[in-house]
Amino acid sequence: MSGFSLDWLDLREAADQRARDKKLLVDTIRFIDAGPEDGDASGASRIILDLGTGSGSTLRAFSSAMEDHTCPHAWRLIDNDAELLAAAKLRVPQGVNAETYLLDLNRIPDLPIEGVKLVTSSALFDLVSERFVQELVDTLTEKSKGTPPAFYSALNYDGNTDWTPTHPLDREVLEAFNRDQQTGKGFGPALGPRAAQVMEQKFIKAGFAVVCALSPWLLDGSEAELVRELTNGIGNAVKKDPSLETHDLRNWIEFRMAHADSGTCSVGHIDLLALPRSGL
Ligand SMILES: C[S@@+](CC[C@H](N)C(=O)[O-])C[C@H]1O[C@@H](n2cnc3c(N)ncnc32)[C@H](O)[C@@H]1O
Repeated sequence: MSGFSLDWLDLREAADQRARDKKLLVDTIRFIDAGPEDGDASGASRIILDLGTGSGSTLRAFSSAMEDHTCPHAWRLIDNDAELLAAAKLRVPQGVNAETYLLDLNRIPDLPIEGVKLVTSSALFDLVSERFVQELVDTLTEKSKGTPPAFYSALNYDGNTDWTPTHPLDREVLEAFNRDQQTGKGFGPALGPRAAQVMEQKFIKAGFAVVCALSPWLLDGSEAELVRELTNGIGNAVKKDPSLETHDLRNWIEFRMAHADSGTCSVGHIDLLALPRSGL
């Protein structure tokens, strides 16, 4: 089991799906659709590799945006959590071809990138290190003979969280949370809020054309349970930060819980699409 429970992923799914930048998603689908019509009904010529699949949120986002007109495609779903992969498999929409792979993403050379046209991820790259991004970019460009796959990465936390009503401790809590986001999450020092910026630099340097778009969570009292879980998560992440007094933090958490039904919360994310230029 990973630190990401199915309950937590289910709780955030609607906010995630709403937040994804629709234009970037459609542009990504246009890319996967483009090219010679040499695929068979299994989608063998249009393979998508999803990193850190969880319960399959990215596959579902593509499936609902793709509608009927698109070409067949096939998914390779990667995660190191067998329980989440089993849930993802069960939820694959009818008619979609998907295989699951129980793999540690740190083993980049073992990733099944052979024949892949697009690599996807969501809510993952703020957990990884700068070195991980570099190794992935190198592998995508070196292993693919000819044009490398495109890369789509949604919902990368950008370091901004805004609440209403405001509380005097909001700024300190956010700064402590952003510090925690840069501590190791299984891949070495995590990128946290720098994720999109680092990916953008590295893919551009490798010759890709990169487009980014904002994809914030916009939450209100209709998603109070998610706001409460988010508050608990932030509270746990910052409780050992020396800049925060325990009783001040407790006060902040109580205030946020008391306003979960009536207040608002926006959490900044960035989606990124890196398209290969031909002849790399
Ligand atoms: C925040 S969740 C995002 C899941 C899904 N992409 C989504 O948007 O709902 C991060 C996912 O990355 C997976 N993960 C974390 N570290 C991993 C690793 N070293 N190898 C493989 N998967 C990993 C977790 O199991 C989890 O499913």
